[in-house]
Amino acid sequence: MFKTEENVSLLPYNTFGIKAKSKYFAKVHSNQELIEVLTQFKSTPTRILGGGSNILLTQDFEGLTVLLSSKGIAIVSENETHALVTVQAGEVWHDFVLWALTNNLGGIENLALIPGSVGAAPLQNIGAYGIELESVVESCQTLNRKSLQLHDFSNKECQFGYRTSVFKTQLKDQHIITQVTFRLQKTPHTLECSYGAVAQLMEEKPKTIQSVAETVIEIRQSKLPDPKILGNSGSFFKNPELSNAQFKTLQTRHPEVPHYVMNTSQVKIPAGWLIETAGLKGYRKGPVGVHEKQALVLVNYGKATGKEILQLSQYIQNQIKTRFNIALEPEVNIL
Ligand code: EPU
Repeated sequence: MFKTEENVSLLPYNTFGIKAKSKYFAKVHSNQELIEVLTQFKSTPTRILGGGSNILLTQDFEGLTVLLSSKGIAIVSENETHALVTVQAGEVWHDFVLWALTNNLGGIENLALIPGSVGAAPLQNIGAYGIELESVVESCQTLNRKSLQLHDFSNKECQFGYRTSVFKTQLKDQHIITQVTFRLQKTPHTLECSYGAVAQLMEEKPKTIQSVAETVIEIRQSKLPDPKILGNSGSFFKNPELSNAQFKTLQTRHPEVPHYVMNTSQVKIPAGWLIETAGLKGYRKGPVGVHEKQALVLVNYGKATGKEILQLSQYIQNQIKTRFNIALEPEVNIL
């Protein structure tokens, strides 16, 4: 059974470690409980929370916050080469990665240690070290917030893109992802080790999904702050996608700019490089700052408010706009 609490601090539920309150708060463990709470609070503004690792709370919320805590991982079918695995939205993403490694199922080892929940992962199509979630999602089950009916979205219907999906665009705030079905690979696994740092460290290691995960964990721990120690939300901005003309202008001034050709008309460049080149890596203002080892990560050195982090992000956006004429777009959801 779920119980509803009042005036709850959301401090333990967001990785930035921001103190903000929600007027009502409920933890739900099943679709049934989710439907019940949404029915009970039909006329109250409602927010759904997963791992709280991709949000910036800038003020108290006068509505209901629902924490999805449904658990369960099950193989629902398998053949010679693949297994379909259904995972409940409230599972911790990294716990699922560990489960897949234990069961020798491949496809998500590059996504080890990404903070957050399984339900939130498709929303922004999480990705790291050469793998995007869309390559392993078979389908998503959702609950329509208005009709309270369950739906199934095929991979194609999720309309995945770089850190986006239909749930962040056309259908924003209309559906709650309640479970995700993944298509994972049995042995022999196809490994993705082409990402610079991964390729380098993997040279000496056995070519297994377990060692890829170990390598990714090593890289992440060496440059990304642990949210339990230093509040943060991973990459704060998206890596901008420039037109060929915009990219040429930048490359003429900065021949060393790292880049990744996406297609015939767009080039992606690292926002971390822009921020570092603008001299802002390690920049600190009061309780907030730009991480010293990864300029794309903004950190809360303790007791920062969401507004202070927001102001820092706006300052960075202005600096990058003035210096490079490039607009940085937040990856984090600002609430
Ligand atoms: N760079 C710098 N200075 C920095 C950071 C990066 O110059 O301070 C440049 C370097 O040239 C480096 C390149 O940017 O080679 C790429 O850096 P990194 O490998 O750290 O990746 P990223 O582009 O900064 C993206 C994702 C991360 C993901 C990594 C690894 C986005 C917004 N971020 O970061 O995802 O872990 O690649 O694949 O796409 C997240 O989304 O929260 C996240 C952490």
